[in-house]
Amino acid sequence: MTGSRSLAQPPLRVEADALAVADQVAMRLQAALAQGATLGLATGRTMEPVYRALVQRLQALPETDCLGLLASWCSFNLDEYVGLGPKDPGSFAAFMRRHLALPLRLPSERLQLPDGLAGDPQAEALRYAQALRAAGGIDLQLLGLGRNGHVGFNEPPCLPEAPCRCLALSSSTRQQNAGAFGGDPQAVPPQAITLGLAEILSARQLLLVVTGAEKAEILRRSLQEPPCPEVPASWLQGHPGLEVIADRGAAAALQLS
Ligand code: GLP
Repeated sequence: MTGSRSLAQPPLRVEADALAVADQVAMRLQAALAQGATLGLATGRTMEPVYRALVQRLQALPETDCLGLLASWCSFNLDEYVGLGPKDPGSFAAFMRRHLALPLRLPSERLQLPDGLAGDPQAEALRYAQALRAAGGIDLQLLGLGRNGHVGFNEPPCLPEAPCRCLALSSSTRQQNAGAFGGDPQAVPPQAITLGLAEILSARQLLLVVTGAEKAEILRRSLQEPPCPEVPASWLQGHPGLEVIADRGAAAALQLS
């Protein structure tokens, strides 16, 4: 069954599978682009079908309409590994180039990310946060969910005031992301630059996208237990513009009323 249900809060949409989720998210991204929104973008396996669906939607438009939407494209990614540049296939810059910039023929610099090769990662985090403020902040922030409850790379424990910064990745996150590094967690960079919960919670709208049964329990804790530092995503509950789109597997542990 596919449908839209309203919990007390936040609004939750449950779709049959990851492809149906991707189509819903792509629809919202297209609508946001049409309004000239500044997008906050995420990486990870959850986003691959989302970006495929967005590319398909945009390519199906008459060329002038598509070019019109792309002309005002402005996006900021959540995070990047320290030490990796766009030429490294494991970098998030390379992910964004593969999944969006190349198929949409957008110059890579239109998709902004922290510079993983910056000599001083902490200074780069400050610069990136400042660039985001100068652009007027994020209108629609897309978020995936880490298995330990992280959003962006805000690893637990994390307070809602945490700013954009350079931080150490947990061993569980390096394990989770090893797939992009030949399956070896040791090959995953130990540090990353991430937007903080402070910048994420300042976005006007948040779209949390979660697929797969292995995330059912952490999604339940994120949405239906009191917010706490041990589950960074739980701080999203307080945001008035939060919407959650999940597939049946990820929504399986939620109490729906
Ligand atoms: C990664 C990223 C997040 C992403 C999350 C989920 O580590 N930093 O932005 O949303 O973890 O990843 P996946 O979609 O591969 O499960």
